[in-house]
Amino acid sequence: MSAVLPLPPGQGERLDLRPLPGGLGAEITGFDFGAPLSGERFDTVHRAFLEWQVLVFSGDEVPPDRQVEFARRFGEVQVHVMNQYHADGFPELYRLSNLGADGNPSGRHPDRGTLAWHTDGSWQARTGLATMMYAMEIPAEGGETWFCDMYSALDRLPRGTRERIEDLRAIHNLDFSRSRRHGEEPMTREQRRQVPPVAHPVVRTHPETGRDCLFLGDHAETIEGMDYTAGRALVDELNETAARLGTVYRHRWRPRQLVVWDNRCLMHRATAYDTATERRVIRRCTVLGDAPFRRRSRRS
Ligand code: SIN
Repeated sequence: MSAVLPLPPGQGERLDLRPLPGGLGAEITGFDFGAPLSGERFDTVHRAFLEWQVLVFSGDEVPPDRQVEFARRFGEVQVHVMNQYHADGFPELYRLSNLGADGNPSGRHPDRGTLAWHTDGSWQARTGLATMMYAMEIPAEGGETWFCDMYSALDRLPRGTRERIEDLRAIHNLDFSRSRRHGEEPMTREQRRQVPPVAHPVVRTHPETGRDCLFLGDHAETIEGMDYTAGRALVDELNETAARLGTVYRHRWRPRQLVVWDNRCLMHRATAYDTATERRVIRRCTVLGDAPFRRRSRRS
């Protein structure tokens, strides 16, 4: 059943929006990516983005230039350090494809790191604000994208765990996660040089909603100031706990869908598919956000 995003008079345009089952995410139909996007219309999209965290735009063709243009409305679009994935004529676009040079399924997953729960760009000082993925080709089975709400994951943590982690900072490191998950194609020395490890609060305040949430994922290596092994174990435990406690939306793709999500309060992961027989081609870009912070630290 379709709903219309309720808006106070004069505060934007209407969107055909249907909340997805489970309370996380909403689907928007009839959005014309070819039409100029007025400030009012973008404001409406942005409000829905903050409220639903995952927006699924169904049905419209989105050429590469329109995807980049749409992403730029959210902010500065990242040029990813893993430049071997750049594609489609824009350095901002990143192609995840299992097709070989002959155009057929190669049997090779483009990035196995995406199969673990993670947060885009958490390995940078300015982490990902939004990621936008457009489905060019999708498999009949598998190849879904799952989203885990990190507001509810934090809210549902046992009180003792929350108190223990509230003021901790995790060290995020792309070299760590890449070597661990896709070690046969490690980062080059130059790529490593560009993105040294960086520490972020484990509990962050969303800069726009003001709500606190967990901020972790597979790029988190260990905990600042903690013995390395103990920190690693805690990161693994918290990632597993968040994925178990947080509300999860499992997105099964349809062709020509564009999905935008808020990396500041979500983790996501892809699911496996048969890379030798199925075709999956996704065009992705990520909008840069701010340096994560915690507004109400108990120590401050
Ligand atoms: C990603 O993690 O950025 C990609 C997720 C997917 O391929 O579904």
